[in-house]
Amino acid sequence: MSSSLSLFCSSKTRFSPVVDTEVMTKHILCTGGAGYIGSHTVLKLTENGFKVSIMDNLLNSSEKVLPRLQELTGKETPFFKTDMCDAEAVDKLFAEQNFDGVIHFAGLKAVGESVAKPLWYYENNLTGTLNILKAMQKHGCKRLVFSSSATVYRPCEEPIDESKPLGCTNPYGWTKFMIEQILTGFATANPSFSISILRYFNPVGAHPSGRIGENPHGPPNNLMPFVQQVAVGRRECLSVFGNDYATHDGTGVRDYIHVDDLAEGHICALEKLFTMDGGCIIHNLGSGTGYSVLDMVKAFEEASGKKIAYKIVERRAGDLGTVIADASKAKADFGWQTKRGLKEMCESAWKWQSNNPYGYEDGPSQESGSWIQSLHLVFVLNFPEQGRLGQFYHTN
Ligand code: NAD
Ligand code: UFG
Repeated sequence: MSSSLSLFCSSKTRFSPVVDTEVMTKHILCTGGAGYIGSHTVLKLTENGFKVSIMDNLLNSSEKVLPRLQELTGKETPFFKTDMCDAEAVDKLFAEQNFDGVIHFAGLKAVGESVAKPLWYYENNLTGTLNILKAMQKHGCKRLVFSSSATVYRPCEEPIDESKPLGCTNPYGWTKFMIEQILTGFATANPSFSISILRYFNPVGAHPSGRIGENPHGPPNNLMPFVQQVAVGRRECLSVFGNDYATHDGTGVRDYIHVDDLAEGHICALEKLFTMDGGCIIHNLGSGTGYSVLDMVKAFEEASGKKIAYKIVERRAGDLGTVIADASKAKADFGWQTKRGLKEMCESAWKWQSNNPYGYEDGPSQESGSWIQSLHLVFVLNFPEQGRLGQFYHTN
């Protein structure tokens, strides 16, 4: 493992070969491991010799990712279909398994939805995290990597380093902010625990095999999944939210990071935790380079050979012109930096989307199937007596 890891955690990492061998046998639980970033990280962890288990309630993911992971790694990843808000089930899992560390991806993540359903977001993300921390404490699992977000920073158009002021504008962001506070307090009160908070910028792309990738349920909120769905003909036209920002072409600039670079960042952070005797560390994971919406459209057109129809519309409320990471701390502390550029981001995204136009599902019939199920749900809610009709849909 040392040789492959050194490809993305530079020699500046503090791992002696002895530590590397120890790390190799560690059992890591990935909460939310069936999701987009989780599944790519599970793959990298397995490739690098970790024993990995997934805990996910499949709220925003599909069990169909599991055979694909097995196909890519040659190993079966134990999967526990568990809701992290179910304290008893989480405790039982930690009691039965001997986890050496946790990478905590699980959470709800759609900004607009969080504005509409704040209590759901606070309850799911905060209660779930508290349950995991309590189980870790009770069962002596002392290392945690947490998926935070650049959304915790107050609006800032300069490259953002970790010392920039924090403050959020929506409930999703506040859940990340609050969990960061919980984790820092927990680490202070429990000095033998080592915690890494990773603030992601804009993850895009897919594994180069095209077998796993981002699988949004419903209309995508983020730019690249929308562009990808226009390219495969699932959506007609991209709306570009504003072209009057102070950027080189007027459209919003973001720091896009290849999901495989992001996945590798987690392994570097995890390895760092195994060298620490406790404490809480915070790092940005971004590339330090910004691309505009139109840069992304052009790069995707080149990668896919497809024309992306777009129209300029009003700015989206709450958007900034430019958001770029200063990722030098991750490089200094664990030798991590991005290796993959815009071309690889777009080519891998296209390979995934063109081979799997409907993600892990089979196609429009499944989408209309879930539409029928939604209609049925409305029916059941209004006419509960007739609810057993639902058996027809669920068993056929
Ligand atoms: P995702 O939705 O693909 O994955 C999240 C996973 O968590 C899903 O598989 C979902 O089923 C699971 N989950 C949600 N609630 C759960 C619960 N109560 N119990 C068990 N499992 C539950 O999202 P992703 O893009 O892979 O994001 C992973 C993490 O990274 C999230 O915490 C997200 O907030 C954070 N993040 C994502 C981005 C991004 O742009 N994708 C940016 C910054 C931070
Ligand atoms: N955009 C469009 N059209 C779309 C979608 C997006 O023009 O249909 C533009 C946005 O205005 C922005 C850029 O594309 O300029 C990127 O937008 P995304 O929605 O893809 O990403 P954001 O930077 O707004 O936010 C994302 C996640 C947040 C996370 C943040 C981290 O949604 O949860 O990255 O930087 F916090």
